[in-house]
Amino acid sequence: MKLPGLADPHVHLREPGSEDKEDFYTGTCAALAGGYTALLDMPNNPQPTSSLEALEYKKQLAAAKIVCDVGFNFGATPINAPLYPQVEPQVAALKVYLGETHGPLVFGGLEGMLSVFQGWNSPRPIMIHAEGPIVAATIGLAALYDRRIHICHLSKRDELVLVRAAKERGLKVTCEVAPHHLFLTSEDAAPDHLGPYGHMSPALQSGADLDALWQGLADGAVDMIATDHAPHTRAEKEGPKPPFGVPGLETAFPLLYRAVKQGRAGVTLDRLVDLMALVPRRVFGLPLGDSEIEIDDSEFVISSENLLTKCGWTPFEGQLGRGRVRRVWLRGQLVFEDGRVLAPPGSGRVLF
Ligand code: NCD
Ligand code: ZN
Ligand code: ZN
Ligand code: ZN
Repeated sequence: MKLPGLADPHVHLREPGSEDKEDFYTGTCAALAGGYTALLDMPNNPQPTSSLEALEYKKQLAAAKIVCDVGFNFGATPINAPLYPQVEPQVAALKVYLGETHGPLVFGGLEGMLSVFQGWNSPRPIMIHAEGPIVAATIGLAALYDRRIHICHLSKRDELVLVRAAKERGLKVTCEVAPHHLFLTSEDAAPDHLGPYGHMSPALQSGADLDALWQGLADGAVDMIATDHAPHTRAEKEGPKPPFGVPGLETAFPLLYRAVKQGRAGVTLDRLVDLMALVPRRVFGLPLGDSEIEIDDSEFVISSENLLTKCGWTPFEGQLGRGRVRRVWLRGQLVFEDGRVLAPPGSGRVLF
């Protein structure tokens, strides 16, 4: 079966600064293996993508190495709003970290939040890492300043209640859900199960939250699936202070496709294509209709041994997937076939 190439607006490719976890080549190879032909890279590098120089440097590095298309999200700080007019045409979105997570870009004060919402006047969304009451605060700011916002990795039932209410009011609010919040719960994070490999931000939630997210996938309250591919080394995960984050590019489609084939929550294949390919492309202005994937229909056991991500592990080890990606075409070129990347480094496009 053939489907449109998948698109993921929330990926941490880790270059520059954390090439021990992932780099532009390995991360985009993992993307092709997972059926993705367009990604948006996040700005929370050790030297964050929050200046024009850092953005330009990242684009140069990417141009030489990527094998699928990659665009960039710019990192907000409490004081960099004066850069927005110059930055805006060069990125897909502005990213704001308003809650505890990995990386240097986290802030929380009202002054900083105001500078973001007053300063970013664009059809390109403000992407927000926020949880709980902060989600309500950002929806309030979006209403007051008439801004387009996108809630990242929404994980809780009550947060989805807020998003539904915002949509009913006609506010320009979209949201994404990550596969780990659809297939794992807080019980899986127990020390005798995933332990540090189940440690991410937002944390794994309850079964009731998970069910609410599935309901949202089916009825449209959830706009899209984003992997939040956030690789860290095994050594870091097993160290004294395991960082937040799990990889996801290669496991998202097989997990979701298997669940859809089982009829989970009434999510149709058509809806899955919207969630993983068409809606992210539309919301973030990514290329449409230039790529295709071919999948086989059999089930398989997810194993870290077959992964192309540099980190070499997955929190879904041993779970069943279905619909292995056999071939990927980008602009008419066969770029991936049966586990092998055929595209040369640098053949992907830097978007925007
Ligand atoms: C992300 C990372 O490692 O960069 N980690 C995570 O747990 N999600 C940061 C983020 O997306 O918040
Ligand atoms: Zn986040
Ligand atoms: Zn378990
Ligand atoms: Zn992330």
